[in-house]
Amino acid sequence: MEISCSFILKFNIFATTNELENMKKLVVLTGAGMSAESGISTFRDSGGLWEKYKVEDVATPEAWYKNPALVLDFYNQRRKQLLASMPNAGHKTLAGLEKYFDTQIITQNVDNLHEQAGSTVVLHLHGELLKVRSTGPGQEVFDVDLKNLEIDLGNLCPKGFQLRPHIVWFGEAVPEIENAIQITEQADIFVVIGTSMQVYPAASLINYVKSDTPIYLIDPHEIEYLPAHITLIQKGASEGLEDLKKFLKI
Ligand code: OAD
Repeated sequence: MEISCSFILKFNIFATTNELENMKKLVVLTGAGMSAESGISTFRDSGGLWEKYKVEDVATPEAWYKNPALVLDFYNQRRKQLLASMPNAGHKTLAGLEKYFDTQIITQNVDNLHEQAGSTVVLHLHGELLKVRSTGPGQEVFDVDLKNLEIDLGNLCPKGFQLRPHIVWFGEAVPEIENAIQITEQADIFVVIGTSMQVYPAASLINYVKSDTPIYLIDPHEIEYLPAHITLIQKGASEGLEDLKKFLKI
């Protein structure tokens, strides 16, 4: 019995790998607008987070040195907001695209709503809210205790160093950018959803898309200048993704 179970398992894994090889590679770059319909504020829209907080007070290494309690409080609030949020229809539609495409998501979002919706390949360019990192030399990363979301001054890693949010702050290196570039270069279809494309190096990823790869942009706001090879779907993420399915003939 055990032998046949293990055979079936191996056979299935083999079949899945084969299926993936035959699928087109769909690469999706998402930003804060992807989670807007889940009730998570964007940064630069009117009423966005950067109207309420100054970036330099809460999202830079200098802010951390100057007032770590304020920085920790800012991310404690973000964590609480995330735990009160659910994936929206757009997140679920994207997860469903894995049936048709070898789908890889590159997200600037620090929430985990793509994963909650069922997407299995998600690269977080700007870190993750539900992880924390040691400020010691090893910079070890730990999962946040979901029963106690707050990280305060005095919360230490096992080696005795203060914990900090596992977020890429402005002015810090983006360790996943090389992986993101490689994924982008392989895209057969490239989709951008809900990002103002104002933050680099994330915004530069579009320059690595192959010249014959179709690019779709889903965003409800007007875009002043759009290169001819990019198809704009001027809608919110959920509705826009339904339109995308029609473009992709599924
Ligand atoms: P922004 O706030 O800059 O841009 C949000 C984009 O989402 C805008 O283009 C909006 O038009 C669009 N949008 C709004 N509602 C939408 C909806 N329902 N559906 C789809 N799109 C919608 O956010 P990002 O571009 O993600 O980094 O910002 C990039 C980075 O800047 C963030 O990762 C964060 C921020 O500072 C760090 O904190 C390190």
